[in-house]
Amino acid sequence: MTRHLVDIASLSVAELRHILDLSVAAPKHALAGKGVALIFEKPSNRTRHSMEMAVVQLGGHPVYTRGEEVGFDVRESVEDVTRIMAGYHAVLAARVFRHSFIERMVAVSDVPVINMLSDASHPLQALADIITMEEHVGPIAQSTVAYIGDYNNVARSLAEAVCLLGGTISLGCPSAYDADDDELARLAALGGTVRQSASPQEAIAGADVVHTDTWISMGQEEESAIRRKIFSKYCVDEDLMALAAPNAKFMHCMPAHRGEEVSADVFDGPNSVVIQQGHHRLTAARGALAWVMEKS
Ligand code: CP
Ligand code: NVA
Repeated sequence: MTRHLVDIASLSVAELRHILDLSVAAPKHALAGKGVALIFEKPSNRTRHSMEMAVVQLGGHPVYTRGEEVGFDVRESVEDVTRIMAGYHAVLAARVFRHSFIERMVAVSDVPVINMLSDASHPLQALADIITMEEHVGPIAQSTVAYIGDYNNVARSLAEAVCLLGGTISLGCPSAYDADDDELARLAALGGTVRQSASPQEAIAGADVVHTDTWISMGQEEESAIRRKIFSKYCVDEDLMALAAPNAKFMHCMPAHRGEEVSADVFDGPNSVVIQQGHHRLTAARGALAWVMEKS
Protein backbone atom coordinates (compact mmCIF):
# COMPACT_ATOMS: atom_id res chain seq x y z
CA MET A 1 0.00 0.00 0.00
CA THR A 2 1.25 3.48 -0.82
CA ARG A 3 2.66 5.23 2.22
CA HIS A 4 1.74 8.86 2.88
CA LEU A 5 2.99 11.20 5.62
CA VAL A 6 0.02 13.38 6.51
CA ASP A 7 0.08 13.46 10.31
CA ILE A 8 2.25 12.01 13.08
CA ALA A 9 -0.83 10.53 14.77
CA SER A 10 -1.56 8.28 11.77
CA LEU A 11 1.76 6.48 12.35
CA SER A 12 2.26 3.56 14.69
CA VAL A 13 5.05 3.85 17.26
CA ALA A 14 7.06 1.33 15.21
CA GLU A 15 6.57 3.38 12.02
CA LEU A 16 7.60 6.60 13.76
CA ARG A 17 10.72 4.88 15.14
CA HIS A 18 11.50 3.45 11.71
CA ILE A 19 11.33 6.91 10.10
CA LEU A 20 13.66 8.25 12.80
CA ASP A 21 16.08 5.34 12.18
CA LEU A 22 15.97 5.95 8.42
CA SER A 23 16.72 9.64 8.93
CA VAL A 24 20.29 8.70 9.84
CA ALA A 25 20.55 5.64 7.58
CA ALA A 26 18.54 6.43 4.46
CA PRO A 27 19.42 4.31 1.40
CA LYS A 28 21.49 6.64 -0.82
CA HIS A 29 19.64 5.66 -3.99
CA ALA A 30 16.08 5.66 -2.62
CA LEU A 31 15.09 8.29 -5.21
CA ALA A 32 17.58 7.50 -7.99
CA GLY A 33 16.30 8.87 -11.28
CA LYS A 34 13.02 10.00 -9.74
CA GLY A 35 11.29 13.34 -9.33
CA VAL A 36 9.74 14.88 -6.21
CA ALA A 37 7.19 17.69 -6.56
CA LEU A 38 7.44 20.34 -3.83
CA ILE A 39 4.36 22.58 -4.00
CA PHE A 40 4.22 25.63 -1.69
CA GLU A 41 1.09 27.72 -1.15
CA LYS A 42 2.98 29.62 1.58
CA PRO A 43 6.56 30.89 1.96
CA SER A 44 9.30 28.65 3.34
CA ASN A 45 12.99 28.60 4.14
CA ARG A 46 13.68 25.43 6.17
CA THR A 47 11.11 23.15 4.55
CA ARG A 48 11.97 24.02 0.99
CA HIS A 49 15.73 23.80 1.41
CA SER A 50 15.76 20.69 3.60
CA MET A 51 13.40 18.82 1.29
CA GLU A 52 15.24 19.88 -1.88
CA MET A 53 18.58 18.81 -0.44
CA ALA A 54 17.22 15.55 0.99
CA VAL A 55 15.85 14.64 -2.45
CA VAL A 56 19.26 15.36 -4.00
CA GLN A 57 21.06 13.34 -1.31
CA LEU A 58 18.79 10.36 -2.08
CA GLY A 59 19.59 10.59 -5.79
CA GLY A 60 16.38 12.28 -6.94
CA HIS A 61 15.39 15.56 -8.59
CA PRO A 62 13.20 18.11 -6.73
CA VAL A 63 10.82 20.36 -8.66
CA TYR A 64 9.86 23.43 -6.60
CA THR A 65 6.52 24.97 -7.55
CA ARG A 66 4.73 27.99 -6.08
CA GLY A 67 1.14 27.31 -5.19
CA GLU A 68 -0.23 29.90 -7.60
CA GLU A 69 1.44 28.13 -10.52
CA VAL A 70 -0.65 25.00 -10.04
CA GLY A 71 -3.56 26.97 -8.55
CA PHE A 72 -5.21 24.29 -6.40
CA ASP A 73 -8.98 24.63 -7.02
CA VAL A 74 -8.38 27.88 -8.96
CA ARG A 75 -6.52 26.90 -12.12
CA GLU A 76 -7.65 23.29 -11.80
CA SER A 77 -8.89 20.98 -9.09
CA VAL A 78 -6.62 19.52 -6.42
CA GLU A 79 -7.47 16.09 -7.87
CA ASP A 80 -6.48 17.01 -11.43
CA VAL A 81 -3.16 18.52 -10.29
CA THR A 82 -2.43 15.43 -8.22
CA ARG A 83 -3.30 12.81 -10.86
CA ILE A 84 -1.17 14.56 -13.48
CA MET A 85 1.82 15.14 -11.19
CA ALA A 86 1.72 11.53 -9.96
CA GLY A 87 2.67 10.54 -13.52
CA TYR A 88 5.85 12.62 -13.37
CA HIS A 89 7.01 12.21 -9.79
CA ALA A 90 7.74 9.48 -7.24
CA VAL A 91 6.54 11.69 -4.35
CA LEU A 92 4.20 14.71 -4.13
CA ALA A 93 4.84 17.08 -1.22
CA ALA A 94 2.68 20.12 -0.49
CA ARG A 95 2.42 23.06 1.95
CA VAL A 96 -1.18 24.21 1.98
CA PHE A 97 -3.59 26.50 3.80
CA ARG A 98 -6.30 23.86 3.99
CA HIS A 99 -5.46 20.44 5.43
CA SER A 100 -8.33 19.04 3.34
CA PHE A 101 -6.20 19.64 0.23
CA ILE A 102 -3.62 17.15 1.54
CA GLU A 103 -6.40 14.63 2.25
CA ARG A 104 -7.82 15.13 -1.27
CA MET A 105 -4.35 14.56 -2.75
CA VAL A 106 -4.00 11.33 -0.77
CA ALA A 107 -7.44 10.15 -1.95
CA VAL A 108 -6.44 10.17 -5.63
CA SER A 109 -2.66 9.75 -5.61
CA ASP A 110 -0.99 6.45 -6.41
CA VAL A 111 2.37 7.87 -5.27
CA PRO A 112 3.21 9.00 -1.71
CA VAL A 113 2.00 12.41 -0.52
CA ILE A 114 3.92 14.32 2.18
CA ASN A 115 2.38 17.15 4.20
CA MET A 116 4.91 20.01 4.34
CA LEU A 117 2.63 22.04 6.71
CA SER A 118 -1.10 22.62 6.71
CA ASP A 119 -3.42 24.52 9.01
CA ALA A 120 -3.68 21.28 11.05
CA SER A 121 -0.18 19.86 11.26
CA HIS A 122 3.54 19.96 10.49
CA PRO A 123 4.80 16.37 10.69
CA LEU A 124 8.25 17.06 9.20
CA GLN A 125 8.85 19.64 11.92
CA ALA A 126 7.81 17.19 14.64
CA LEU A 127 10.26 14.59 13.31
CA ALA A 128 13.10 17.12 13.53
CA ASP A 129 11.90 18.15 16.99
CA ILE A 130 12.06 14.56 18.25
CA ILE A 131 15.52 13.99 16.74
CA THR A 132 16.76 17.20 18.41
CA MET A 133 15.20 16.38 21.79
CA GLU A 134 16.62 12.86 21.85
CA GLU A 135 20.04 14.26 20.98
CA HIS A 136 20.06 17.08 23.56
CA VAL A 137 17.76 15.86 26.35
CA GLY A 138 17.42 12.07 26.16
CA PRO A 139 14.57 9.59 25.68
CA ILE A 140 11.18 11.23 25.11
CA ALA A 141 9.49 8.69 27.41
CA GLN A 142 11.42 10.18 30.33
CA SER A 143 10.98 13.81 29.28
CA THR A 144 8.50 16.59 29.94
CA VAL A 145 8.04 18.87 26.95
CA ALA A 146 6.35 22.22 27.59
CA TYR A 147 4.78 24.01 24.66
CA ILE A 148 3.96 27.66 25.37
CA GLY A 149 1.79 29.72 23.02
CA ASP A 150 -0.66 29.05 20.21
CA TYR A 151 -1.94 25.46 19.95
CA ASN A 152 -1.59 25.35 16.18
CA ASN A 153 -0.08 23.09 13.49
CA VAL A 154 3.41 22.85 15.01
CA ALA A 155 2.14 22.30 18.56
CA ARG A 156 -0.35 19.66 17.43
CA SER A 157 2.27 17.56 15.62
CA LEU A 158 4.76 17.98 18.47
CA ALA A 159 2.14 16.86 21.01
CA GLU A 160 1.24 13.84 18.86
CA ALA A 161 4.89 12.78 18.61
CA VAL A 162 5.61 13.24 22.33
CA CYS A 163 2.47 11.28 23.27
CA LEU A 164 3.16 8.46 20.81
CA LEU A 165 6.65 8.05 22.26
CA GLY A 166 5.31 7.96 25.82
CA GLY A 167 6.52 11.36 27.03
CA THR A 168 4.73 14.17 28.84
CA ILE A 169 3.42 17.16 26.91
CA SER A 170 2.53 20.18 29.00
CA LEU A 171 0.61 22.83 27.06
CA GLY A 172 0.54 26.44 28.24
CA CYS A 173 -1.94 28.21 25.97
CA PRO A 174 -4.53 30.97 26.37
CA SER A 175 -8.17 30.00 26.38
CA ALA A 176 -9.63 29.61 22.85
CA TYR A 177 -6.10 29.17 21.49
CA ASP A 178 -5.60 25.93 23.42
CA ALA A 179 -6.48 22.26 22.91
CA ASP A 180 -10.18 21.63 23.57
CA ASP A 181 -11.41 18.62 25.55
CA ASP A 182 -11.79 16.42 22.47
CA GLU A 183 -8.27 17.27 21.37
CA LEU A 184 -6.84 16.53 24.84
CA ALA A 185 -8.64 13.17 24.82
CA ARG A 186 -7.33 12.41 21.31
CA LEU A 187 -3.76 13.12 22.45
CA ALA A 188 -4.14 11.10 25.64
CA ALA A 189 -5.33 8.11 23.60
CA LEU A 190 -2.01 8.12 21.72
CA GLY A 191 -0.08 7.41 24.94
CA GLY A 192 2.10 9.39 27.31
CA THR A 193 0.76 12.12 29.58
CA VAL A 194 -1.05 15.30 28.55
CA ARG A 195 -1.34 18.40 30.70
CA GLN A 196 -2.68 21.84 29.90
CA SER A 197 -2.87 25.13 31.77
CA ALA A 198 -3.71 28.69 30.78
CA SER A 199 -0.84 29.68 33.07
CA PRO A 200 2.51 29.55 31.26
CA GLN A 201 4.21 29.44 34.68
CA GLU A 202 2.27 26.32 35.62
CA ALA A 203 2.78 24.66 32.23
CA ILE A 204 6.53 25.19 32.16
CA ALA A 205 7.21 24.05 35.73
CA GLY A 206 9.94 21.40 35.77
CA ALA A 207 9.97 20.93 31.97
CA ASP A 208 13.08 19.44 30.35
CA VAL A 209 12.34 21.16 27.02
CA VAL A 210 10.42 24.34 26.27
CA HIS A 211 9.05 24.80 22.76
CA THR A 212 7.19 27.68 21.18
CA ASP A 213 6.03 29.01 17.81
CA THR A 214 4.92 32.32 16.35
CA TRP A 215 1.76 33.96 17.71
CA ILE A 216 0.75 34.86 14.16
CA SER A 217 0.90 31.97 11.74
CA MET A 218 0.96 32.38 7.97
CA GLY A 219 -2.53 33.42 6.87
CA GLN A 220 -3.42 35.01 10.25
CA GLU A 221 -1.82 38.39 9.56
CA GLU A 222 -5.16 40.25 9.84
CA GLU A 223 -5.45 39.02 13.46
CA SER A 224 -2.00 40.37 14.40
CA ALA A 225 -3.14 43.11 16.81
CA ILE A 226 -5.58 40.97 18.77
CA ARG A 227 -3.19 38.03 18.87
CA ARG A 228 -0.31 40.16 20.19
CA LYS A 229 -2.61 41.29 22.99
CA ILE A 230 -3.93 37.82 23.88
CA PHE A 231 -0.49 36.19 23.86
CA SER A 232 1.43 39.02 25.56
CA LYS A 233 1.83 37.03 28.80
CA TYR A 234 3.14 33.97 26.93
CA CYS A 235 6.59 35.26 25.97
CA VAL A 236 9.22 32.65 26.83
CA ASP A 237 11.75 34.84 28.66
CA GLU A 238 14.42 34.21 31.29
CA ASP A 239 11.91 34.56 34.14
CA LEU A 240 9.69 31.88 32.64
CA MET A 241 12.62 29.59 31.74
CA ALA A 242 13.79 29.82 35.38
CA LEU A 243 10.71 27.76 36.34
CA ALA A 244 11.65 24.89 33.99
CA ALA A 245 14.17 22.18 34.96
CA PRO A 246 17.74 23.40 35.44
CA ASN A 247 19.38 23.84 32.01
CA ALA A 248 16.13 23.08 30.20
CA LYS A 249 16.55 23.34 26.43
CA PHE A 250 14.70 25.95 24.39
CA MET A 251 13.27 25.03 20.98
CA HIS A 252 11.43 26.93 18.24
CA CYS A 253 10.39 25.74 14.78
CA MET A 254 11.27 29.22 13.36
CA PRO A 255 10.75 31.78 11.87
CA ALA A 256 11.08 33.43 15.32
CA HIS A 257 10.08 36.87 16.53
CA ARG A 258 12.38 38.08 19.31
CA GLY A 259 10.43 40.15 21.82
CA GLU A 260 7.14 38.40 20.98
CA GLU A 261 6.89 34.64 21.63
CA VAL A 262 10.50 34.50 22.90
CA SER A 263 12.96 36.98 24.34
CA ALA A 264 16.24 37.51 22.51
CA ASP A 265 18.29 36.33 25.50
CA VAL A 266 16.47 32.96 25.57
CA PHE A 267 16.43 32.47 21.80
CA ASP A 268 20.13 33.31 21.47
CA GLY A 269 21.12 31.91 24.88
CA PRO A 270 23.28 28.92 25.82
CA ASN A 271 20.36 26.52 26.31
CA SER A 272 18.78 27.27 22.95
CA VAL A 273 19.04 24.43 20.41
CA VAL A 274 17.07 26.18 17.67
CA ILE A 275 19.83 26.07 15.06
CA GLN A 276 20.53 22.36 15.63
CA GLN A 277 16.74 21.83 15.47
CA GLY A 278 16.53 23.70 12.16
CA HIS A 279 19.44 21.69 10.76
CA HIS A 280 17.69 18.46 11.77
CA ARG A 281 14.93 19.36 9.32
CA LEU A 282 17.29 17.90 6.71
CA THR A 283 17.85 14.76 8.81
CA ALA A 284 14.09 14.38 9.18
CA ALA A 285 13.40 15.02 5.50
CA ARG A 286 15.72 12.16 4.52
CA GLY A 287 13.91 9.83 6.91
CA ALA A 288 10.47 10.82 5.65
CA LEU A 289 11.39 10.46 1.98
CA ALA A 290 13.19 7.15 2.51
CA TRP A 291 10.22 5.80 4.48
CA VAL A 292 7.58 6.62 1.87
CA MET A 293 9.83 5.23 -0.86
CA GLU A 294 10.23 1.82 0.87
CA LYS A 295 6.78 0.78 -0.41
CA SER A 296 6.94 2.51 -3.80
N1 CP B 1 9.80 25.63 10.45
C1 CP B 1 9.51 25.75 9.15
O1 CP B 1 8.71 24.99 8.60
O2 CP B 1 10.13 26.76 8.52
P1 CP B 1 9.82 27.30 7.06
O3 CP B 1 8.46 27.92 7.11
O4 CP B 1 10.90 28.30 6.77
O5 CP B 1 9.84 26.15 6.10
N1 NVA C 1 2.65 28.01 12.89
C1 NVA C 1 3.53 28.54 11.87
C2 NVA C 1 4.61 27.58 11.55
C3 NVA C 1 5.62 28.05 10.54
C4 NVA C 1 6.65 27.01 10.23
C5 NVA C 1 2.71 28.87 10.63
O1 NVA C 1 1.80 28.09 10.30
O2 NVA C 1 2.95 29.90 10.01
